[in-house]
Amino acid sequence: MAQTRPLKEEIDGHVVIVEDEIESRKVMTLALSKKGYHVEAFGNGADAIKYIHSQTSIIDLVITDLRMPGVDGLTVLKETKQADQDMAVLLVTGYASVENAVEAMKLGADDYLTKPIDLFEFRARVHKLIKHKSLNREVDLLHKRLDKRFGFEQIIGKSRQMEQLFEMVRAVAATNANVLITGESGTGKELIANAIHQNSPKKDQRFLPINCAAIPSDILESELFGHERGAFTGAITRKIGKFEIATNGTIFLDEIGDMSVDLQVKLLRVLEQKEFMRVGGTETIRIGSRFVFATNCNLERAIEEGKFREDLYYRINVVSLKIPPLRERREDIAELVSHFVSEFATEHKKQVTDVAPDVMQALMSYGWPGNVRELRNLIENVIIFSKEDRITKDLLPTHIISRSDKNRRVAVPFGMTMSELEREAIYQTLDAVGGNKTRAAEVLEVGLRTLQRKLKDYESDGQDEASDKDDDED
Ligand SMILES: Nc1ncnc2c1ncn2[C@@H]1O[C@H](COP(=O)(O)OP(=O)(O)OP(=O)(O)O)[C@@H](O)[C@H]1O
Ligand SMILES: [Mg+2]
Repeated sequence: MAQTRPLKEEIDGHVVIVEDEIESRKVMTLALSKKGYHVEAFGNGADAIKYIHSQTSIIDLVITDLRMPGVDGLTVLKETKQADQDMAVLLVTGYASVENAVEAMKLGADDYLTKPIDLFEFRARVHKLIKHKSLNREVDLLHKRLDKRFGFEQIIGKSRQMEQLFEMVRAVAATNANVLITGESGTGKELIANAIHQNSPKKDQRFLPINCAAIPSDILESELFGHERGAFTGAITRKIGKFEIATNGTIFLDEIGDMSVDLQVKLLRVLEQKEFMRVGGTETIRIGSRFVFATNCNLERAIEEGKFREDLYYRINVVSLKIPPLRERREDIAELVSHFVSEFATEHKKQVTDVAPDVMQALMSYGWPGNVRELRNLIENVIIFSKEDRITKDLLPTHIISRSDKNRRVAVPFGMTMSELEREAIYQTLDAVGGNKTRAAEVLEVGLRTLQRKLKDYESDGQDEASDKDDDED
């Protein structure tokens, strides 16, 4: 029969118990699970070690008996610390081996208890160890957050569109609503997803990004839901999935348009019922996470093509945030440039502080098909190669300069026809952008299809010419 696990708002701890004596194992497990901890209990050290290595990131505490047949508690201790130095270990031992316990403390155990166990004392020690661990994790998180700087301050944009977007982000962050973020590649979807989390009531819980396009669809299911031991060939231990790791945090499903239709059905169920089961499992797990989704593909079109489920679309699209491409908010470019200049000058220990006016003009008028990511990469590149304190035009790649020199006069050989000129422009632009047709179309301000059609025409012209030539030679 399926059991329902309570939502753990207060005590969020994942504990492993290793104890060969059945009674003692049961008593400890019950004592902790009653308090809301998630407990995995093992009767021998070998199985426990396998589990600890496979689930390192989510285990808070390992409680192990010292004396066990086969793999003993000291080995469990060593292996645990090897898997993660910060994972807490509580040793449980009979009176006879107190000396060993002291020895074990020297080897890195965090605490020890002697049998028979006083349950009150047991819970108190467990609570202390886990609290200590979560404090450490919080400090870690704070550092990471500072490092990655996910606050709004680090999202640059003064344009009207971005101001509006920030306002919406602030409003939606305060709620628990599902959010769909759309926008071309490199516009800052992940940055916004982070800002939503950092400004939400869940900010002290986990933010868990999952890129649906990067994980093969058969693996994605057990990544998200977890699986039970023996659920399929190769499932040698139970695996806790991402949903379970972040039951109260924010789950960011990136590239949602790439999720298989089968999995979409299962995801819809999670969103509707707020619970799920591990693959091959019977235990129902409640989930209180907030979901943020992102995609750079057109989901409406995907629905028409039968690649995306309409019912799921309405579920995830409760609030939708559209990030405009950079070319539609050129007034943000200057600020982004100076932001990235100072970021990379510091990182690469360069003295660059300034951008020449003609460089800025070139950057302002370029199309940025790769959006902010492309701009950021370009600035980093330029900074690395710069020798002076100012970024000058010679450091810019040709495709960016040529686009901006609108008033420049090009020497056209007399006698060239309009269509020959056009063809030359297309080929030279393609050369300048390394053959990337999407980018060439952007620079030339024509549609990609038009460009492709013209190239096809040129190709067939070329073939005709070649066969004409053959005829001439005959
Ligand atoms: N407004 C912004 N201010 C500062 N940095 C930004 C801004 N927008 C994007 N960036 C930076 O540009 C890069 C790309 O952003 P991000 O990864 O969030 O884009 P994305 O929309 O998720 O792209 P993709 O669809 O390719 O995954 C990151 O390094 C990010 O920090
Ligand atoms: Mg992204």
